[in-house]
Amino acid sequence: MRTPVSTDPRTTEPRERSPRAFRPTMVLLLFLSASAGILLDASSGHAAEFADYLAAVDQALVKNPNAVPKHALYSCQDRRAFAVRLERRGEDVRAIRSLRFCFNLLGISTAAVDRASAPVDSSARQAAQLEKGREDARREYERALQLEPDPARGLEIYRSCAACHTPEGWGMASGVVPQLAGQHRSVVIKQLADIRAGNRQNRVMLPYASVESIGGAQAIADVAAYIDTLEISVENGHGDGQALALGERLYGEHCARCHGARGEGDAAKQIPRIQSQHYGYLLTQFELIRDGKRLNANPEMTAQIAGFEERETKAVLDWVSRLEPPEELRAPAGWRNPDFASP
Ligand code: HEC
Ligand code: HEC
Repeated sequence: MRTPVSTDPRTTEPRERSPRAFRPTMVLLLFLSASAGILLDASSGHAAEFADYLAAVDQALVKNPNAVPKHALYSCQDRRAFAVRLERRGEDVRAIRSLRFCFNLLGISTAAVDRASAPVDSSARQAAQLEKGREDARREYERALQLEPDPARGLEIYRSCAACHTPEGWGMASGVVPQLAGQHRSVVIKQLADIRAGNRQNRVMLPYASVESIGGAQAIADVAAYIDTLEISVENGHGDGQALALGERLYGEHCARCHGARGEGDAAKQIPRIQSQHYGYLLTQFELIRDGKRLNANPEMTAQIAGFEERETKAVLDWVSRLEPPEELRAPAGWRNPDFASP
């Protein structure tokens, strides 16, 4: 088993408690209350706009950039909860107005969000933006991959990720948050670079993974190196187990040549490990990729799965979720991440 990164001599001095911190549990609560509404609806106009305002508010709640007093943070949280309820009821205009109040409370400006959510005026401009996103992502990926990573610094960054991805990197069995443990470093770096450059949409996570909150390519290299030390949980979410023979056959015919015989992926080609990934997450991503809604999808995979029916999709992903990594990559039963143990 690995040694905890926090015993690295560089990090053994007591960590200062950041006065800005308003941290993990809150991030998770905020996230859980927001996710149901937003994750599934990033594409429609108003919902996307609301999501942008919400993401900006969440980031300010976590970082408290103007060091406003606690009671202002709590008032904003109430406003935020109210706004999310309004949005769910379809009252978008009121929801956004309610969130705007938070911007006042926290002393932040809506200008950046207003700009970002301005309608795209032509498809040519949209295409140019997409191309730029791909290019930015590719450049950041290549830079991060070459940098010398510092896993101890990566742990410090990962503390903010753990609120959603859990200290062990196991995500949530429901599949709303993916398991990151065991994911290839090259894949983690690519996905982060893609998300930051807008080449994969993830509005919920973006504020926590942005350059402003964690730093540039070095931060990606560091946090990916830390994630690389985490071991895989095989107690992940599965499907209903009704059609595993079909799933196995489809996997062999349509997936194994890229994702490997046991779903182990391929670090050199940035093909994700998908074995022991939560079924719910696999399903969400598979459908986004099939329907052309995940911008960074592999076009060859999209073509390969174009004809999949619902029954086949569920069967193959159920099979994938039950594929297990070799013993040495698995976390021992009952393991908890010692880097997160309270002193
Ligand atoms: C607010 C919750 C939240 C926080 C905080 C968060 N994430 Fe995520 N992350 C998610 C969700 C939800 C997804 C899946 C979203 C989707 O459907 O694309 C995700 C996806 C990812 C993926 C893609 C995984 C894959 O298999 O392709 C990576 C990599 C990742 N997160 C890394 C991080 C890192 C590193 C941090 C901290 C800097 C972080 N996340 C912070 C919620 C979060
Ligand atoms: C031609 C190669 C190829 C084939 C065939 C293929 N995939 Fe993929 N798949 C990829 C690549 C590459 C990615 C990552 C793309 C990116 O985001 O960079 C991916 C991503 C995924 C993801 C998202 C993983 C994550 O962590 O976000 C899932 C789920 C997935 N594939 C499942 C499957 C299944 C199931 C099959 C068979 C039915 C399949 N793929 C066939 C290459 C392939």
